[in-house]
Amino acid sequence: MSYGSKATGRLAGKTILITGASAGIGEATAIEYASAAKGELKLILTARRLEKLDSLKSKLEAEFPNIKVLTVKLDVSDLSAIEKFFKELPKEFSDVDVLINNAGLAKGFANVGEISQNDLDCMFNTNVIGNIAMVQHLLPLFKKKNSGDIVQLGSVASRESYPGGAIYCATKQALRAFTSALRKESINTKIRIIEIQPGSVDTEFSDVRFYGDKVASKKLNEGIEQLSADDIAEMIVFFTSRKQNTVVAESLILPTCQASRSHTYRHSK
Ligand SMILES: NC(=O)c1ccc[n+]([C@@H]2O[C@H](COP(=O)([O-])OP(=O)(O)OC[C@H]3O[C@@H](n4cnc5c(N)ncnc54)[C@H](OP(=O)(O)O)[C@@H]3O)[C@@H](O)[C@H]2O)c1
Repeated sequence: MSYGSKATGRLAGKTILITGASAGIGEATAIEYASAAKGELKLILTARRLEKLDSLKSKLEAEFPNIKVLTVKLDVSDLSAIEKFFKELPKEFSDVDVLINNAGLAKGFANVGEISQNDLDCMFNTNVIGNIAMVQHLLPLFKKKNSGDIVQLGSVASRESYPGGAIYCATKQALRAFTSALRKESINTKIRIIEIQPGSVDTEFSDVRFYGDKVASKKLNEGIEQLSADDIAEMIVFFTSRKQNTVVAESLILPTCQASRSHTYRHSK
């Protein structure tokens, strides 16, 4: 995809840090950045599954000879691991320009009163506490150089709650509140705070939500023409390759069959 005549130049030489780059939107975003910048950039790819990151790194290096890719195993729900990650970031990769704060998940569809404490902790620690910790660690650097983009992966659930989604929605709405305050705090800087709120995207997200039950996951999305991870990746790259005076602050990105979380058109077979 072409992002305009100046986008490749604007992305060239940047260091992009992506959390949750081992699958779905994070993985697609890494590939899209590499392609948009014609490999002239540095990528820091993190997630818990290092082997997936390493295979993505090999693929990118084979296609783009000038690209520099660092893979790091990082569980964002572990605050001491985040601290260690930033402390040990090699100098060549330490001048981060863009954070794609993407790692996130939902666990189950239980109603309130029946939600497992483990699932609740997992969602809050990953989607909220870990996300915020990533920002807290990077913001001093961004302030020092008076630039930097923070892309927050919100959701249609940032705007609308639904039965069986109390905790996931609460995490994404907490993230939206945090992100909105952060944007207001950053108006005297050139730091851009960007929140993307996807509707239904075809990734591993539903499989994870159903604890690996792919049959149940497939059934949930039956008849829905979901977005692909690439669709969201294109938006992320487009938003972060605008002129620095332009912030696409918040955007709800839905497949055409969806008008909100609870208004989805399903094709019958
Ligand atoms: N798919 C959708 O319909 C949809 C809609 C709206 C918003 N979103 C949001 O988009 C983001 C990406 O989701 P996706 O759809 O791409 O799902 P996905 O395919 O399941 O990918 C999620 C990514 O997050 C990583 N991750 C999960 N927990 C982690 C942790 N504790 N530490 C580090 N990495 C972790 C996973 O890697 P490892 O397992 O290797 O750690 C994986 O790379 C999430 O924030 C999600 O809430 C998704």
